[in-house]
This record gives sequence, structure tokens and C-alpha cells, in this order.
Amino acid sequence: MSLVSALYPALKPWLFKLDAERAHEWTTKMMRISHSLGMLKPDELPASKPVDCLGLRFPNALGLAAGMDKSASAVEAWAALGFGFVEVGTLTPRPQPGNPKPRLFRLPEHEALINRMGFNNVGIHAAVKKLEKRKTSAIVGVNIGKNFDTPNEQAVNDYLYCLKAAYPVADYIAVNISSPNTKGLRDLQAEDSIRQLLAALKKEQASLEKEYGKKKPVLVKIAPDLEGQQIEALARVFNELAVDGVIATNTTISREAVAGHPLEKEAGGLSGAPVTERSTLVIEAFRMLLREQTPIIGVGGILSGADAVAKLKAGASLVQVYSGLVYRGPGLIADVLRGISAHS
Ligand SMILES: Cc1cc2nc3c(=O)[nH]c(=O)nc-3n(C[C@H](O)[C@H](O)[C@H](O)COP(=O)(O)O)c2cc1C
Repeated sequence: MSLVSALYPALKPWLFKLDAERAHEWTTKMMRISHSLGMLKPDELPASKPVDCLGLRFPNALGLAAGMDKSASAVEAWAALGFGFVEVGTLTPRPQPGNPKPRLFRLPEHEALINRMGFNNVGIHAAVKKLEKRKTSAIVGVNIGKNFDTPNEQAVNDYLYCLKAAYPVADYIAVNISSPNTKGLRDLQAEDSIRQLLAALKKEQASLEKEYGKKKPVLVKIAPDLEGQQIEALARVFNELAVDGVIATNTTISREAVAGHPLEKEAGGLSGAPVTERSTLVIEAFRMLLREQTPIIGVGGILSGADAVAKLKAGASLVQVYSGLVYRGPGLIADVLRGISAHS
């Protein structure tokens, strides 16, 4: 076991006494420092098979989900911990502070988080500058969104702006239309809105491919709170427009799994163990409807190797974690990679 994984159980009670967002800032800073001092050694990771997906070769199937490194400040450190890919963002055209604090809450009884961060980020250009200087061969996805004060009718301009800015530095681009914390964002999942948005993005992607001589895949990140007909409509549009991939899922607005908890009424998206099953069901539904060549990245409530394998069995080609890292610590990375290598 590596030093970071061995230390986490001892650190966790202290971290959990801190406000959740402060604990997050502190751990990210410590990780960055440990990495720059060459002290960030991953657990003994099982030999992982690279995964060929989206026209890219992923060193392994496990990625860091969006939101943990919103501003691309520690990509090298995440890669050093063992992640095969890191999705930074969500990034918006202009920097923005996000919602008032507190905006991140732990529900330890459920191994869950509720967040209403609201796309706090340094803006796409500052993140791109950092990514231009990155010293890692890990795959980097750039997750893009719209500024909170951009009306939905003009959202397409924000996404196009971010796509153009991110294109030269990203390995893939993730279009986030599923955060519950930017008013009206999820309405972009309605069939007509998503068709319009994705048609514009695919057109721009084609012209950027010509300009840079390289195709960068564009994926769409969806919510777990979609019902049968909405899933069918979305899959239809994704197939029609040959979307390169789907990331399923974001956080849920449902509180069914945490009913009665004192924090149940906090506004925001719920993640962690309560979304495990729901997100796997959504993956399964999309797998049945999407063209065979459209891969799915499975995310939502992965807290063990078995949870990751369930996502792969449901049809995901790659997986990501966020809340599981908070509850299980960096040892989760080796657990998941062991689970995946035993499965494949
Ligand atoms: C504090 C927090 C912030 C997040 N921020 C973003 C974000 O900016 N963009 C995004 O696409 N997803 C964001 N997510 C969603 C995660 O990427 C992930 O889809 C979701 O939490 C489910 O995975 P998990 O159960 O492993 O956390 C955020 C999640 C959390 C907990």
C-alpha cells in the first residue's frame, strides 16, 4: 500500500471535521505539493490493459470525473495517483465564482455528497493555458458549460466558444448539459434544444478537425433523472448526429434514497452510493439504444471494484469516480483497477 492510501484512513476523521469544500481545497493542495516533491507514489497498481476508445489509447479504464479539478490545477498529480484519464472542468467562457457558500455537504451515513457549486471556475482560457504546459501523457478531457448569466437561447454560443478554445489542448471534449446547479441547464436535454446545440457543435468540430488536422471526440454528459421517453429521444438525436460518446451520469436531483436525512432539503445534486444503481440503469438503457460505435463513460456511485465492473457489464467502456474518492480515499483507484482487470 502506498503512503497516501495508508495515511487516508487516519486523515479522514480530521478532514471530515472540516467544512467539505475546505477539505477538498486542502487535499488538492497537499496532493499538488506531494507530487511536486516526487512523494506521490500510487498504490501497487495491477498491470492494466490499455483501452482503445474514442480513437484514443487510454492507459487504463479509470478516470477522474469532472468537478474534482474544475480548473485543471493538478492534472499531473491525478495521473501520478494512477488515473488513466482526467476530466477537468466544468469550464465556462468567463470565470465565475459559483454559488454562495456553503455549497457542498457530506451525508456520511449514505456515503453521499450534495453539491450546488454552480460551475465555480477560472474560465476556459486560464485552464487552457495550464493545460498547454501539462507534463503528463494521461488523457485529458475538457468539460464545458455555459456561464450562469447566459440565457439558454444563447447557450450555444458559450459552448461553441469553449469548444474552440479547448480544442487544441483537449484529448476529448465533454458537453455538460446535466448539472442541476445552473438554472435551466438541464432543459437543454429536451429533444429540440439538444438537436440544435449538438448540430452546431458537430459542425464546428468538423471545421476544427480540418484546421488542426486531428479529430477530437465530442461527448455529451447526461443526467440520471431521465425517464424512458426522454432517454429514447436523446439516443435518437445522439445517433442522428453521430455524437462521439456519452457520459452517464451526472448527479441526481432525487432525494428518495436519502429521505429523512437532515440535509435532504439542501438544494443541489446528490452523488455517491445513492446514485450507483440509477446511473447503471441509465447506462444500460443507452447501451441498448445507441449505435454500437458510440462508447459510454460510466460514472455515478462507484465505491468499489465491483461497482465499476457493474458499469462495464451494463455497457460502459470506461468509468470515472468522484464521491467514492472522498469516502474510500485514493485506495479506491487500485481497488477499481483490480476489479476491472479481474473482469476483463
Ligand atoms: C462537488 C461536486 C462537483 C461536481 N462538479 C461537476 C462539474 O463541474 N461538471 C460535471 O460535469 N460534473 C460535476 N460533478 C458530477 C461528477 O462528475 C459525477 O458525474 C457525479 O458526482 C456522479 O459520480 P460520483 O457518484 O462518483 O460522485 C460534480 C460532483 C460533485 C460531487
